[in-house]
Amino acid sequence: MNYDEIHSFLTIYEQETKQSKGYADARLAEIKAKGDYWQTTDELTHAARVAWRNSNKCIGRLFWQSLHVFDERKTLTHDTIFERLVHHINFATNGGKIRPTITVFHPERVRIWNEQLVRYAGYDTADGIIGDPASVAFTKTCIDLGWQPKYGRFDVLPLVIQVNGTLPRLYDVPPACVLEVPMTHPTNEQFANLGLRWYAVPMISNMKLDGAGVEYPAAPFNGWYMGTEIGARNFADVDRYNQLPAVAKLFGLDTSTQTTLWQDRALVELNVAVLHSFKTHGVSIVDHHNAAQQFKLFEQAEEKDDRAVTGNWAWLVPPMAGATTHIYHKPYKNHYFTPNYFYQKKPY
Ligand code: ARG
Repeated sequence: MNYDEIHSFLTIYEQETKQSKGYADARLAEIKAKGDYWQTTDELTHAARVAWRNSNKCIGRLFWQSLHVFDERKTLTHDTIFERLVHHINFATNGGKIRPTITVFHPERVRIWNEQLVRYAGYDTADGIIGDPASVAFTKTCIDLGWQPKYGRFDVLPLVIQVNGTLPRLYDVPPACVLEVPMTHPTNEQFANLGLRWYAVPMISNMKLDGAGVEYPAAPFNGWYMGTEIGARNFADVDRYNQLPAVAKLFGLDTSTQTTLWQDRALVELNVAVLHSFKTHGVSIVDHHNAAQQFKLFEQAEEKDDRAVTGNWAWLVPPMAGATTHIYHKPYKNHYFTPNYFYQKKPY
């Protein structure tokens, strides 16, 4: 155990949550005596929130203090873990008024194989890829584990839950729990014919919460979407749903040369449709201009509290209209502090 790291987090915890003076020292002595660091639910809650605050790639960090934390470290059977994941999905979705939420499972004994709790399958077929190309490897794993492929473009993958390093079990997410938004455009009625849809809540389940001294490999968390994640990446990337050519056709754009900027125009229409559709369905979403303004408020709040703002410029700049945001015009130090969220090796 890294006692320095534990102590520095406990000091942050003591100060920021107004514990009585000496809390960190007393806790450290207790942890050393026990040879084991089991965070209190309150420490875990603060660690998960500070981990969000320290997430350099995230433009949405203004809201770090509002993260809802569910402590499920003692939930240790497949069925009960599944039940708590469904609870997370329902609580976070909240009928469209999305709540930032994390559910933390046991530090050693649980692993969720999904990249997100709700994500679409991708099938590599003789006629090309159907669905989300980003999910091809994981979808194959699910099929190998006994899942029945459906070969649709937007099939929700099963939850793959592993306990104690044994063979994982698969569970279907109850369809009634999965809020989805069909894509329409505010002025082009033909847009709906593209048949595009996306799920309401991005719930990342493959990252590890590093709680500064304890690591939680199974700790699914979510915020709400920024429109460009869907409109400028998931639908637009050539190696994802690759919809720019279809959108360009729908809007009658001249695609004979890229110099007409048809890709840029199609991107704008696609992103207008994403924001419009989420709004129409009463599902929380933020556009990149408002997100950048909120990030500026976060930077100001951090400065006021005497903390250095860290960030990863390449991730913070939105994938459209980058230079219209203040983020584009200033440098960020990409220093990592713990607590934080980290990538980890795929279990499959
Ligand atoms: N970019 C990912 C996606 O499109 C989601 C990442 C987390 N996003 C968020 N707004 N919290 O599914």
